[in-house]
Amino acid sequence: MRPLRTAIFPVAGLGTRFLPATKAQPKEMLTVIDKPLIQFAVEEAVSAGITRLIFVIGRTKRSIADHFDANPELDMLLRSKGKDKMADYLRAIVPPSCCCIYFRQAEALGLGHAVACAAPVIDADEPFAVLLADDLMDGTVPVLAQMAQQFESSGRSMLAVKEVAPSETGSYGIVDADLPPEGELSRVRGMVEKPAEGSAPSNLAVVGRYILDGRIMDMLKDQAPGSGGEVLLTDAISKLIDGPGVDAYRFKGHRYDCGSKIGFIEATMAHALAHPEYGAQTRSMMRALLDAEKSK
Ligand code: UTP
Repeated sequence: MRPLRTAIFPVAGLGTRFLPATKAQPKEMLTVIDKPLIQFAVEEAVSAGITRLIFVIGRTKRSIADHFDANPELDMLLRSKGKDKMADYLRAIVPPSCCCIYFRQAEALGLGHAVACAAPVIDADEPFAVLLADDLMDGTVPVLAQMAQQFESSGRSMLAVKEVAPSETGSYGIVDADLPPEGELSRVRGMVEKPAEGSAPSNLAVVGRYILDGRIMDMLKDQAPGSGGEVLLTDAISKLIDGPGVDAYRFKGHRYDCGSKIGFIEATMAHALAHPEYGAQTRSMMRALLDAEKSK
């Protein structure tokens, strides 16, 4: 097995939960304060040693490729105004050691199908990460870097998991595994997509960070669509579980579900409060808003 150097960013979903914002722009370009969600995910991947960034884009996704391209006119303009720091920052979003590859998913046929679009550049002995940028992950150590470190010794596919309330299992892939303490691995015995409350094998939900065995591409190739007509990544992961094995990793950090409006609001508030420049102002604005609410 080769070292982990490749990441796939499936960004071809329709984002129907975030309409109208996502009618003509990808949800992964929505910004928390001033940074698009996809840039958070790319920075997380780069911090984990990823050098090959593969984007699976859809119809409205040109802005993603534009965002990671050099922009010489803007660079010159910023430098002529003495804003070299911002120009340097923009240049470094994709470090020179990294390359970007783009695949197009012509139709949104599901996450499994989106991942399989990158199959032409993934060898069977090549592990790769999958990052769903609408899951914004905060961790003192970036979550994918935590996973990459574990993977170095385990060499096995890995799913980031978090505990959810029993009423929420129907919104996630749920693994059958014993709960390890934070930062530890546990072997996965099975995985079920969106089980109803009461029928879930555990309360450990898979969130948008995976490290997968390159052999999964072969498993995805001929996979029939599952429930809802989509090609599910879960079905192929189940084959990995029965074959070479898969671990669950309870990451250290917080996950914001930025594919939903309420999760996006939470992420924006948390990042605004923690912002070095705007944090104090945000705090007093929030207090004033809450006070005004109380006195209504
Ligand atoms: P979601 O389940 O959030 O679906 O996809 P969605 O279509 O993007 O959003 P909603 O549910 O309609 O609001 C999870 C991830 O998988 C990608 C999405 O871009 C997102 O990063 N995806 C999903 C694809 O790339 N292609 C697909 O066909 C489906």
